[in-house]
Amino acid sequence: MPKLLVDRFGRMHDYLRISVTDRCNLRCVYCMPEEGMEFEPEERLLTFEEITEVVRVLAGLGVRKLRLTGGEPLVRKNLEQLIGMLSQIPGIEDIALTTNGIYFASRAEKLRAAGLTRVNISLDSLKADRFSLITRGGDIRRVLDSIEAAHRVGLSPIKLNVVLMKGINDDEIEDFLQMTIDRPVQVRFIEYMPIGHQDDIWKNRYLPLSTVLERCAEKGWTAAPSESVYGNGPSQNFRIEGALGSFGLIHPISDHFCETCNRLRITADGNVKPCLYWSDEFNVRKYIGDDAAVEDLFFRALDIKPQNHEMAEALMNQDQSHTPTLRRMSQIGG
Ligand code: GTP
Ligand code: 5AD
Ligand code: SF4
Repeated sequence: MPKLLVDRFGRMHDYLRISVTDRCNLRCVYCMPEEGMEFEPEERLLTFEEITEVVRVLAGLGVRKLRLTGGEPLVRKNLEQLIGMLSQIPGIEDIALTTNGIYFASRAEKLRAAGLTRVNISLDSLKADRFSLITRGGDIRRVLDSIEAAHRVGLSPIKLNVVLMKGINDDEIEDFLQMTIDRPVQVRFIEYMPIGHQDDIWKNRYLPLSTVLERCAEKGWTAAPSESVYGNGPSQNFRIEGALGSFGLIHPISDHFCETCNRLRITADGNVKPCLYWSDEFNVRKYIGDDAAVEDLFFRALDIKPQNHEMAEALMNQDQSHTPTLRRMSQIGG
């Protein structure tokens, strides 16, 4: 029997999220502070060869799906080269990217040719001025061009990530739902999570995603559960009757999905994170080249992977059983 990445709770891990840089060309309000972030020097990042070595070992343990994240993954030079290297690894079936879409349009063709299979793009507002405020300077036209480019080069499905924030973009829920009626995209509403900042800003802006279904019903639209969107993630999917696209709800706080968690993460500086939320990390860099030691490190990480996060407890100011991470989302990759 081949060894597989199964944890204490019987969860099989076949999905690795690889953060390739902690840098970003934007400063989204829910993700990074405007100033004061310190970035890893380039020599602290895992090289493409090191990442490929780790993935080769993990493919032998059943990992089939990869997602490249950042920061913004496209600020890492020659990402196409890494995708090409990863796509050669026997067992790897899916190489996806989570991007803010600013640099994607001009590179879509090359990324696709290198072996990229899917792309998820952040789009928290459909209004240009508001988009610029949320991202602290982003140009929405570039993101819309990237969505077009993804269609043009045949990357499918295209998922659009919308982090909902009370009083900031929740008045656009209906517009995003309308977009799924008109266009073959999947809009995923995401609950605002307290990653690296469990402060009042988060508590005041957090909105449970039940709001989306309520607004949908108020518009008179009938949304039925839908399984038809290819993916590996925690999104609960729906389609409005007659719609070309669909929408998904990612609700880690109001209704967590940890019992089906299939993912491991590796940060740009080589730390394996068994869970997005908690602080536990295992640095893999010094073991690369010794396959048995790399395997052992991942099994040690899985051994302490908790059953679930406790973000709801954070919202209610209750005690938590572990220590939440101090990393910001940009240092983990979502
Ligand atoms: P696919 O279904 O493969 O497309 O993956 P995905 O939905 O996980 O990809 P994406 O990077 O677009 O994830 C969207 C967002 O969902 C992330 O940025 C996080 O905010 C959230 N998310 C993804 N995975 C997890 C997880 O394991 N736990 C929690 N709490 N949130 C997650
Ligand atoms: N809460 C929820 N999602 C977040 N993301 C970043 N920060 C947060 C947060 N605090 C998600 C965004 C983006 C992806 C890279 O990470 O959806 O698309
Ligand atoms: Fe998995 Fe942790 Fe996310 Fe829960 S919070 S789904 S355990 S990564």
